[in-house]
Amino acid sequence: MAKHDVTIEVNGEARSGEVESRFLLVHFLREVLGLTGTHIGCDTTHCGACTVLLDGRPVKSCTVLAVQADGRKVMTVEGLEQNGQLHPIQEGFYQEHGLQCGYCTPGMMMTGYALLEDNPDPSEAEIRHAISGNLCRCTGYVNIVKSVRHAAAAKRAS
Ligand code: FES
Ligand code: FES
Repeated sequence: MAKHDVTIEVNGEARSGEVESRFLLVHFLREVLGLTGTHIGCDTTHCGACTVLLDGRPVKSCTVLAVQADGRKVMTVEGLEQNGQLHPIQEGFYQEHGLQCGYCTPGMMMTGYALLEDNPDPSEAEIRHAISGNLCRCTGYVNIVKSVRHAAAAKRAS
């Protein structure tokens, strides 16, 4: 299997590695960089637990090859907190109890983050549409929607 050198800007820092052509971005993040906040739930593009931002757009990192991210920007859940301050999307999930087991939460937060970058005041329907590719088997989604709305309000106020 051919090997490739890749350099990906991850959470603002250039990170390099040598990967096989078939190596998935999620494995690069977790196994090479140790960023295990990005979860693997299904490996088949269904659950969204592996969602990260690629050049600002949410993608399922189990469906992106590491070589496809070469030279591009990736943001993971570890990139949300800045200087000890939780991002409003993290604070929203905390305040509104938007999680139970927490397995889906990193992907939910990255999808919520991307939504709020595009739409600072999303309706419940718009939030539900945005997270439709992220599955949660615990919460029933009600508190997840509240969490995103909480974050939207906090972001608008700041
Ligand atoms: S692990 Fe990627 S969508 Fe489920
Ligand atoms: S909190 Fe358990 S899967 Fe969402």
